[in-house]
Amino acid sequence: MKQKQLIIGNWKMNPRSILEAQKLFDSIAKEVEALQKTDTVLCPPFVFLSDFSSRNKKVVLGAQNVSSEDEGAFTGEISAGMLKSFSVKYVLVGHSERRAMGETDEMIAKKVSAVVKAGMIAVLCVGEKERDTESAFLQTLKEQIVSSLGGVPERSLKNVVIAYEPVWAIGNNATGVVDPSSLLEIIIFIRKVLSDIYSQKSAHSMKILYGGSVDEKNAGSFMNEGSANGLLVGRASIQAKKFVEIVKIAENI
Ligand code: PGA
Repeated sequence: MKQKQLIIGNWKMNPRSILEAQKLFDSIAKEVEALQKTDTVLCPPFVFLSDFSSRNKKVVLGAQNVSSEDEGAFTGEISAGMLKSFSVKYVLVGHSERRAMGETDEMIAKKVSAVVKAGMIAVLCVGEKERDTESAFLQTLKEQIVSSLGGVPERSLKNVVIAYEPVWAIGNNATGVVDPSSLLEIIIFIRKVLSDIYSQKSAHSMKILYGGSVDEKNAGSFMNEGSANGLLVGRASIQAKKFVEIVKIAENI
């Protein structure tokens, strides 16, 4: 059977208030309710999770970050167990904006393990800061993947999704967007890296998403020509109309 597409909205530090957040959540939820072939995940800021945990069963909840520790003296941190108790199913790990705040591959590996052990799905974000003509950036991707999955046994791979997000294509400072044919090659490369660590079968069954300046105009090309199993959407996920359009495109792939 064909895998379901996975569309994840990363709201980052938006919107400004719970009222705006509820409005955004509800307008997305009512549109995606009837869809069958797409999993829609929203990752709001932590403080909105409690309100959303019982709001709509069709929209799956995700978190934008997690602590690598279970409990204790870690001011400001939130554990995987806490997220799980608010019905969170997906957790973004190693987003480039967090790496820019100092998160290392070692910390990311611990976070991936914590999420997987708690029975949730880690969305491991990887991506190069810039492209070079000799394709040395592929080595960066490989190192990020190999080091982050160190603590994940093959049997737990169903709890990991990879999101390829080139840093230069993300957010308001993006200098471009990935060309779908290049995305196809990179996804093949990522599957090869995964099959070297685990097995071809596991590598083939893992979901690989694309993220970086996704909008309703380019979304289809990443999933069709680019072969992505879904998308990680930033800016367009805080505009209900655009995000719903993207989810509907995924539904018709
Ligand atoms: P963007 O962000 O869609 O706004 O480029 C993507 C992301 O940071 O996950």
